[in-house]
Amino acid sequence: MFAVYAASLSSDDPLSGLVLGERPDPVAESGWTTVQVKAASLNHHDLWSLRGVGLREEALPMILGCDAAGLDEDGNEVVVHAVVSDPSWTGDETLDPRRSLLSERHQGTFADKVVVPSRNVVPKPASLSFEEAACLPTAWLTAYRMLYTQGGLKPGDSVLVQGAGGGVATALIALARAGGLRVFATSRDEAKRAKALELGAHEVVESGGKLPQKVDAVMETVGKATWSHSLRSLRPGGTVVISGATSGPDPDRTELNRIFFLQLRVVGSTMGTRTELAALAELLDVSGVRPVIDRVLPMDGADAGFTALAEGDVFGKIVFTR
Ligand SMILES: NC(=O)c1ccc[n+]([C@@H]2O[C@H](COP(=O)([O-])OP(=O)(O)OC[C@H]3O[C@@H](n4cnc5c(N)ncnc54)[C@H](OP(=O)(O)O)[C@@H]3O)[C@@H](O)[C@H]2O)c1
Repeated sequence: MFAVYAASLSSDDPLSGLVLGERPDPVAESGWTTVQVKAASLNHHDLWSLRGVGLREEALPMILGCDAAGLDEDGNEVVVHAVVSDPSWTGDETLDPRRSLLSERHQGTFADKVVVPSRNVVPKPASLSFEEAACLPTAWLTAYRMLYTQGGLKPGDSVLVQGAGGGVATALIALARAGGLRVFATSRDEAKRAKALELGAHEVVESGGKLPQKVDAVMETVGKATWSHSLRSLRPGGTVVISGATSGPDPDRTELNRIFFLQLRVVGSTMGTRTELAALAELLDVSGVRPVIDRVLPMDGADAGFTALAEGDVFGKIVFTR
């Protein structure tokens, strides 16, 4: 079958290991099911994989991709949940110490077919296209959990989203607005700031800029470049929820004194549960909120999407179709 896979890893030149070509059809073991992929979306995770973050040399060649929407073995329209927990694990799958994401240990979604544990599919609402549904399992699920599970935000609360253009960040802005929050966003780029306003942000400022007020929570995926600004933007007792560190994991100043003196909460967040994915799909169905799609490419042109993501030339999600 056709697949987009990592043949080698390079921290300096991640795209050098990217191959578009043929891989053997996957075989579903007992308790697993085969999904025919109709659409899959690209995440920064796929670039990290090519850099060797979370993907080991011994696991190569590895089909990339965490996210997919497609047809199950009975022809039902489904969305794939990318968090694979141990068969013996019960409860929140993201807390299983043995869990992995598709494309780390098990072959990923950028292919004609992907095999997943049978419990890792949820129904796709008919109102969502395959392209829209393919954006949910990583970026949108992560955003949902950051805001409403780990952040505990309620209608009327205020939130800052750092780095407005990203896949997770655009989901955060749209979902925060849908949830009745007051939404602030930053971006380095003026055009992206304008798009963030169109998407639902109440106000935007350039990266590091002063907000008109302190906020209840900051959603942080940028890391080193925005960490200090995130802490400075919080009200006393506020919460920073962090799910990524695109610009680096080692801020120049950790500002421990600010954290304890203002009694700030620093909360980690990773992906989401199957139950949260089903709730997110329902929320989009009911609310009419839809993922922001930067561009749709045929999967056999996926390399152009990887290049755009690596260059930061994206507002929202890049989707591949079969
Ligand atoms: N823990 C999890 O489960 C989980 C799930 C999904 C993603 N993540 C992580 O979250 C991060 C974002 O993922 P994504 O897929 O949304 O990536 P993405 O689409 O590439 O977005 C990255 C965004 O970060 C901002 N940014 C990057 N470098 C910056 C810098 N030096 N200064 C200021 N802003 C900068 C950019 O915003 P502007 O261009 O608008 O300034 C960009 O839009 C990644 O590190 C990813 O690995 C983690």
